[in-house]
Amino acid sequence: MAHRVGVIGGDGIGPEVVAEGLKVIAAAGVQLDTTDYDLGGGRYLRDGTVLDDATVDEWRSLDAIYMGAVGTPGVPPGVIERGLLLKMRFELDLYVNLRPFTAPGHDFVVIRENTEGTYAGEGGFLRRGTAQEIATQGSVNTRHGVERAVRYAFELATTRRRHVTLVHKTNVLTFSGDLWDRTFNLVAADYPEVATAYNHVDAACIYFVEDPGRYDVIVTDNLFGDILTDLGGAVSGGIGLAPTANLHPGRVSMFEPVHGSAPDIVGTGRANPVAAVLSGAMMLDHLGEADAAERIRKACDQPESLTGTTSEIGDAVVARLAD
Ligand code: IPM
Ligand code: MN
Repeated sequence: MAHRVGVIGGDGIGPEVVAEGLKVIAAAGVQLDTTDYDLGGGRYLRDGTVLDDATVDEWRSLDAIYMGAVGTPGVPPGVIERGLLLKMRFELDLYVNLRPFTAPGHDFVVIRENTEGTYAGEGGFLRRGTAQEIATQGSVNTRHGVERAVRYAFELATTRRRHVTLVHKTNVLTFSGDLWDRTFNLVAADYPEVATAYNHVDAACIYFVEDPGRYDVIVTDNLFGDILTDLGGAVSGGIGLAPTANLHPGRVSMFEPVHGSAPDIVGTGRANPVAAVLSGAMMLDHLGEADAAERIRKACDQPESLTGTTSEIGDAVVARLAD
């Protein structure tokens, strides 16, 4: 039976890279029953729609959502990010943001908590627009939310090199850091076979550049994970290669490249579709199509040798699948 997948091409280069991902999935022999959703900054500018609750409810019965990128110049910051992407992550409770980085000398995975932290939206203004104005933006960290992300990281480590690093800033964020640290140690006690480490986030930035080989699985909060995974992409072959899974294990989950909509290169054929193709492979893992997923990942090996336009790179991946 075909897997039921919602497709959001989105804005900018999003539709271009998603088209290549779908082409590769079909060539790998997996049948998808897709439904397109015209959402993103473009749609918002046309008719004001961001994401209504009925659409979210429709998604709950899908197997997966495959997304390109959202973001359009001219839309105020936060409208699409909060109203579409974060609403999707929060409403569907996609609590694990999984970002693997593989390149020569790099083989690590970042598990970013995906529903809490500074992204939760706690805070507000007092006396906005006056000389005395105050803005606060809190960080929400629940024992439940932290524990499930940390537990996912340990489970994943048991299938890899059995090492988990907590990244935080416990020396300054003494409340949230303490909750993360205690929860990490409690969960670690359930996994005696998994070794652990702790890095402050600023030090982790240095290690990402100078000694990435020390990492296997990293677990961190939403904002640290956001920043760290852009750096992870930059040091391991470029952001054009980095895929994401937004997971709620056992339920509809969402797959997207780490990169954004890159409106500056839309229509030029210069968008690298490999991140979207690899996100598609992660979607196939979620759909129980592990063989096809592995074949696609193999076909994306040595990505530096995949050159040409967006669709030529897609074709080259398809050709390698046939080998
Ligand atoms: C990402 C993106 C999003 C985030 C933005 C677009 C809201 O940067 O997926 O990393 O900050 O999570
Ligand atoms: Mn980001």
